[in-house]
Amino acid sequence: APGLIVAVDGTSGSGKSSTSRGVAERLGLRYLDTGAMFRAMTWWLLRNGVDVHDPAAVAARCGEPSIVSGTDPLAPTITVDGEDVAAAIRTDEVNAAVSPVSAVPEVRTRLLELQRAVISAESAEGGIVVEGRDIGSVVVPDAPVKVYISADPAARAARRAAEEGGTDLAATQESLLARDKIDSGRATAPLTMADGAVHIDTTPYTLDEAIGLVVALVEDVG
Ligand code: C5P
Repeated sequence: APGLIVAVDGTSGSGKSSTSRGVAERLGLRYLDTGAMFRAMTWWLLRNGVDVHDPAAVAARCGEPSIVSGTDPLAPTITVDGEDVAAAIRTDEVNAAVSPVSAVPEVRTRLLELQRAVISAESAEGGIVVEGRDIGSVVVPDAPVKVYISADPAARAARRAAEEGGTDLAATQESLLARDKIDSGRATAPLTMADGAVHIDTTPYTLDEAIGLVVALVEDVG
């Protein structure tokens, strides 16, 4: 349906991304990973020697990079000033810096504009699944379908370690929980369950089952 927007929020490593992509694929929708945009901003700040723990410094520079996200769920792309950063944004260095950067209001305002431009273009075309932390609460509060995805910390760490080829489960779990704590506690657009969101705890489900649950929600409103 034209105008369809599926807002997916949740904790780090909850299976949000894989589920969102799978839903978009099954339903023939576009897909926007807003976390990749915050990661791309963080990557650029680190590369340019900006102190990511100095909110004033981050605010002063965050208007400079040009960040472009593709919306194909089969091949998500992300570039900064034309450079492909899809791999570079998934490092431990970016994982450790992205939550402090994302708490800076100027960063959020800048990326919110970019996100809304993509969402309005794609929802006019046929629909889009958008995933992040504040999609149902701030970015698209009137989205017809809102999902909040969570999973047990141990399950999240195991999945993320499997995805990233990591072996240190304890360190992975600690890094996910540290991000959640900052993301939930920040003053601007904290991670929260949006009004009207359906909560899905993916711990007992396979990816395919989780995708099926969200697809069913979308079909209910359509
Ligand atoms: O989704 P992902 O884990 O890649 O997001 C990385 C980080 O980007 C999150 O931990 C959070 O700090 C930030 N983020 C955000 N708002 C969003 C999406 C991501 O603050 N909508």
